[in-house]
Amino acid sequence: MTTRLLRGRTLSFVSRPQARDDHESYIYEEDGALLIEDGKISAAGTYADIKRTAPEGTEIIDHRPLLLMAGFIDPHIHFPQMQVTASYAANLLEWLNTYTFVEEQRFADADHCARFAKLFFDELLRQGTTTAAAYCSVHKGSADAYFAEATRRNLLMIGGKVMMDRNAPEPLTDTAQSSYDDTKAVIESWHGKGRNHVAITPRFAITSTAAQLDAAGTLAREYPDLLIQTHLSENDAEIAYTLELYPDAKDYTDVYARHGLLSEKALLGHAIHLSDREMAVIAEAGAVAVHCPTSNLFLGSGLFDLKRIKQHGVRTAIATDIGGGSSYSLLRTLDEAYKIQQLRGYRLPPLENFWQATRGNAEALGLVERIGTLEAGSDADIIALDSSATPAMQIRRETVSTLEEELFLLQTLGDDRTVRQVYVAGEAV
Ligand code: GUN
Ligand code: ZN
Repeated sequence: MTTRLLRGRTLSFVSRPQARDDHESYIYEEDGALLIEDGKISAAGTYADIKRTAPEGTEIIDHRPLLLMAGFIDPHIHFPQMQVTASYAANLLEWLNTYTFVEEQRFADADHCARFAKLFFDELLRQGTTTAAAYCSVHKGSADAYFAEATRRNLLMIGGKVMMDRNAPEPLTDTAQSSYDDTKAVIESWHGKGRNHVAITPRFAITSTAAQLDAAGTLAREYPDLLIQTHLSENDAEIAYTLELYPDAKDYTDVYARHGLLSEKALLGHAIHLSDREMAVIAEAGAVAVHCPTSNLFLGSGLFDLKRIKQHGVRTAIATDIGGGSSYSLLRTLDEAYKIQQLRGYRLPPLENFWQATRGNAEALGLVERIGTLEAGSDADIIALDSSATPAMQIRRETVSTLEEELFLLQTLGDDRTVRQVYVAGEAV
């Protein structure tokens, strides 16, 4: 394998920024370099230092003046919803029943799955997203296609066969037993193969019987290293229906807790309308509240309360939630997160936003040793961002003088055009 040196302005976070100007939270090198060997970052620092220690024959790629960062991480997205995005609906349940549960039925077909697996990863990479945690469809074949394509591209991807055994069209339902068996088969086939990670994926309480949530809980006990992904407290009607279906539960969060699904491995999509009790229980369990800003606005679900969530000590993540979300871009997503927090009375610092999309999301996934930073030993999943990518950005860039201002410009005006180069395990895509 060749040794490569990437030269550019390097930015990598070391902790969650606590203020707008928390300079202790990151390492930034104006003339920085990353040495890449065997798909990993073997050294990071100033160009002068890294160049001096680089082996003879190292290929040097000069990305100046671009900003080199760890690839973006999208911890909540739906693989079978590329053709659901931009569907006109009044709310979550109407959107699910009218469009989503219709479209997902097409993933019974292996050719369809294979075609969309290619399109899906093409699009993620175009946007600078190098890791995602995706819901596949109920069909085992959708997870097989997803992981086969991720393996071919040597991507670090997380995914799971969706478990759903009620309140959906018949072709889109499994059973408690078959969902257990199929998930187990997906784990045995793919977990730990290449860079793949399988997640236990009960869709949400409405589409799972108690027996199925028990099966998911059994899987969680049998495979304690696996992530668990589900939806929680997204929409008022969803919450009311959930409590009708689970009358003994204290609240929505309790439904998952009772079935052994609330732990530090749990990724709870949306988590918008939570009581203090629910936040306390989630914090205690160490589970993650995944903010999905474009989706929450698009479906009119509500405004995620980041300040309150943090005050309760709940771990956080940020994600696109395509196809409920309206952009694949983490940059666009950060912008919408900022605007939602403006309405919530929290002035979300750009440093905290970029931490969240990289190191913060990696921590949420329990993968910070491998992704989300530019530290030596990390996998070399790297993006090069251009804060002058468009005429509007270029003109605004003239007046930017600090890193925080540049990040704010990137999140406010940036999109896929901003992502000029992507490396996956050290290889240019
Ligand atoms: N709740 C259950 N399924 C879904 C889904 O596919 N998207 C969103 N946004 N919420 C859900
Ligand atoms: Zn979702």
